[in-house]
Amino acid sequence: MPPDFDRRREPGKLAGLGEELRHVSTGLWRSVPPSTRWQMGGVLVLVVLGSAFQALSPLALKAIIDGLGSGPAAVVLPVLAYAGLIGAARVGPSIAGWGYQLSSRRVERALSLQAYARLLDLPHAFFLKHRSGEMARTVSDGVSGSTTILGALLFSALPFLVEVGIAFAVLAASSFPWSITLVLVVFVIGYGIVFEKGIAGQRAAYRDAARDNAEAAGIAHDAFANHEAIKLFARERYVLDHVVSGMARSDAHWSRFARLIGVTGAAQGLIVAAAMGCTLLLAGREVAAGRLTAGDFVLVNAYVLQVMGPVERLGHLIREVTRGLDMAGRLRRLLAEPSESELSPGQASLPPGGALSVQVRQLRFGYDGEREVLRGIDLDIPAGRTLAVVGRSGSGKSTLARLFLRLYAADGGRIALDGVPVEDLDLQALRRAIAIVPPGNRAAA
Ligand SMILES: Nc1ncnc2c1ncn2[C@@H]1O[C@H](COP(=O)(O)OP(=O)(O)OP(=O)(O)O)[C@@H](O)[C@H]1O
Ligand SMILES: [Mg+2]
Repeated sequence: MPPDFDRRREPGKLAGLGEELRHVSTGLWRSVPPSTRWQMGGVLVLVVLGSAFQALSPLALKAIIDGLGSGPAAVVLPVLAYAGLIGAARVGPSIAGWGYQLSSRRVERALSLQAYARLLDLPHAFFLKHRSGEMARTVSDGVSGSTTILGALLFSALPFLVEVGIAFAVLAASSFPWSITLVLVVFVIGYGIVFEKGIAGQRAAYRDAARDNAEAAGIAHDAFANHEAIKLFARERYVLDHVVSGMARSDAHWSRFARLIGVTGAAQGLIVAAAMGCTLLLAGREVAAGRLTAGDFVLVNAYVLQVMGPVERLGHLIREVTRGLDMAGRLRRLLAEPSESELSPGQASLPPGGALSVQVRQLRFGYDGEREVLRGIDLDIPAGRTLAVVGRSGSGKSTLARLFLRLYAADGGRIALDGVPVEDLDLQALRRAIAIVPPGNRAAA
């Protein structure tokens, strides 16, 4: 059974994507230091400029073609402008890529640190219920998912908006027949519908594959952590069988994912071909009738490509973003688990002066709510005195210690140090005041 934080909440539709994206982006924004935000701002400006230069370059190409008949001097300026725009369109994003590499490392570090701090603050009971290998995997996936989203938004979504926006603006402002723009609008809608259908299935398949894969890796990690028990009971084969079956389930989802990508891509290719054919036929008719110049024909072709290119890349973009969101979403749900500081908000400090008295009254506790392990324990230990609690294995000695440390909350009764109930005490101060050596713990040796 998948752990709680990994449970699937929605069937993989694109609905809710915006909401998730907003959550992840705000989380990212909050977690990075201001200097990194400035760096990201610079990257954003360079990417926008690069896309705008790229989107405006066909206007210079049209001027070159229309000037061809008027002698070599007429094309010098348009050629310089064209070369300048094409050059600037490449230099800007390259420098942006450099800045992005530097800042994305910082984002990764900030996110990992935040996740580790939060996980260390999760209650003991949570760790008992979840595989630590899987939690580690969820953190590394979540961090790389968040930076994938950041990269996709900056280097795909932003250029998409700028390039398609400028292409439609130029087509609308020029004297081209409106039918060309209409074909492009129909193309974008048709492409979008096929894409939406495809991505919904792909997303569900990807998520299933990633979950089963993480589960298989989690089983292996836990076996490493508990190698002694695995060897004592000769369970290596059993562990491997479980890993193999998890991987096989994951593989089946992967093939479904790959098939959906192939089929959706083929359908989209047909839509691209149809739209390209229609727009060029329409523009060619206008040139033949003398209403458009050869330069206009090239311009139409360039802007049709300029809409299609980014729309086609949009598929890759949304795949990246949804994949990133699935990975980041699992981490977000894990980090949303109530932490110890929230469950035990007590702030009282311990009474000063070293030795403390201990009072336990009618203490009751059971791990599962069915079987009580401690029933009505009463203890009074004056400050500076020693008390040994002895009992057979399983009688509840360690459980009593865990309640002192507030690894669990008692079901009834109370524990107090110098009259202050443990739940009112600051958790860190309480634990620092109690020394405990867990059996076989190398860290404490
Ligand atoms: N995390 C847990 N979940 C459910 N039951 C538990 C858990 N930890 C301990 N128990 C059960 O609670 C009871 C008391 O266990 P506890 O570890 O406190 O005994 P103990 O007196 O420390 O034993 P030992 O002398 O072997 O260390 C036992 O029946 C044990 O099986
Ligand atoms: Mg014990």
